[in-house]
Amino acid sequence: MPNPADAQADLIAYLDFHTEAGVDLALDEQPHDRFGEADAPEPAPRPRPAPRRAALAAVPPSPAPPSPPPQDAPRAPPRATYGRSAAAEPEEAAGDARARARDAASLEELEAILAGFDSCPLRFTAKNLVFGDGNPQARVMFLGEAPGADEDRIGKPFMGRSGQLLDKMMAAIGLDRSSAYIANVVPWRPPGNRNPTPQEVAMCKPFVERQIELVDPELIVCLGAPATQTLTGTKDGILKTRGRFFSYALPGREARLLATLHPAFLLRQPLQKRLAWRDFRALRGALDGKA
Ligand code: URA
Repeated sequence: MPNPADAQADLIAYLDFHTEAGVDLALDEQPHDRFGEADAPEPAPRPRPAPRRAALAAVPPSPAPPSPPPQDAPRAPPRATYGRSAAAEPEEAAGDARARARDAASLEELEAILAGFDSCPLRFTAKNLVFGDGNPQARVMFLGEAPGADEDRIGKPFMGRSGQLLDKMMAAIGLDRSSAYIANVVPWRPPGNRNPTPQEVAMCKPFVERQIELVDPELIVCLGAPATQTLTGTKDGILKTRGRFFSYALPGREARLLATLHPAFLLRQPLQKRLAWRDFRALRGALDGKA
């Protein structure tokens, strides 16, 4: 029989481990063996529940956890689960997002629509919707991937160390948050700062596309590979695409889109700042009509 102090210390260490791994929300009282469930048939599509509180209240009691697979059974890869915290399956959610994003006639409307968009599971683990910051009339719009812990806490994009570096990079070419607009492809923090899944990106993409249309910038700057790949469709890595201007279709005209390195990458690899500096000079040139 372990002594109670040791048992308590073990429990705290176990909770700390999960918190560090990004588990910041208990979805159920029962543990689920998702590996064991991998071969189970897909559940029938659920009808779309409306308000979240009602949806949670309506969840039936959990079945007993499935028995573990035999020790030598092959492990199925983990799957993103769109369980009880999300209202819709990913494809349904992406279609829903497209329909809702089209309805927004202003940034304020778009933000309100996003705030009520229950289909993306990330909104249930995030503290805040991180919609955008800066000047929506600006000629240039910067786009990152997804908020981190600081942005989640404050509710604005690029507030932490990456944001401070981005501010310095902008200042170096005479920009700041009064002359630029900043947003992310995904407006909710993925738990534990994991990468957003392709399904999460797909269901947020219609909103960021509409956000770009409403800001209507001359120049879009994609910070890092995920933003660049999402908006241009390229599969190339950022070290290949950085410094390149793409064309981005807006209603009735083409905007220019510049790919560059993400400030978080530059914090890890400071030597690469010289490449980012080249890109930012190209951006200044484009704003000055020189490139
Ligand atoms: N990284 C991003 O991509 N976006 C933020 O808002 C912060 C860090």
